[in-house]
Amino acid sequence: MARFILLAVTSADGFIARNADQHSFSWSSKEDQRHFLAMMGQMDLSIIGRASYDLHEEEMRKYPCLCLTGKVTAPQKVHDTLTLVNPAHTPLADLVAHSGAQQIAVLGGAQVYSTCMNAGLVDEVYQTIEPIYFGSGISLFGGLELPSELSLVSIKQLNERGTLLAHYQRNKR
Ligand SMILES: NC(=O)c1ccc[n+]([C@@H]2O[C@H](COP(=O)([O-])OP(=O)(O)OC[C@H]3O[C@@H](n4cnc5c(N)ncnc54)[C@H](OP(=O)(O)O)[C@@H]3O)[C@@H](O)[C@H]2O)c1
Repeated sequence: MARFILLAVTSADGFIARNADQHSFSWSSKEDQRHFLAMMGQMDLSIIGRASYDLHEEEMRKYPCLCLTGKVTAPQKVHDTLTLVNPAHTPLADLVAHSGAQQIAVLGGAQVYSTCMNAGLVDEVYQTIEPIYFGSGISLFGGLELPSELSLVSIKQLNERGTLLAHYQRNKR
């Protein structure tokens, strides 16, 4: 059965970036980057927003991606690993089922995390919490329809600075 795994690194006050131009690797710890790359090595497919893909294209090119955008009405294959999809026209669950992918990374940004949460397409969450406050920025979620309860599976300290990696299961409604 397919598993949808949300991967995110946040500030201690819950932001995924200070602004839309900020590349995640510019502020996340080396230990989180290692964790991210190790997780990506286990994924069959990723779901990512168009803004995040554009910003992280160099790193993302080698991973098969469904890139969400409002600019298409039917799935559009751009190259070997990149397909543009508009979930308003093409249900993501159907597309993923059709792909045969078993491990699917939900990579954000905020709108994509919310889209997948709201559609029931998140089974697990790996949230890295870096010991920094941003004060403002892009929140993890752009708009959850309902509160989503989680159960903690494990929490691990990744480095001396105190970067924490929390692994949660999403509770079934
Ligand atoms: N810290 C982390 O773990 C993490 C993870 C990911 C991203 N980020 C950061 O977050 C920032 C970008 O995030 P963001 O929230 O601004 O943008 P984003 O979610 O990456 O991209 C937003 C765009 O994706 C498309 N999109 C997303 N959901 C859609 C939906 N349900 N239906 C149709 N189109 C959809 C739209 O594209 P169109 O405009 O083409 O219609 C929308 O403008 C960057 O700074 C990035 O580094 C951080």
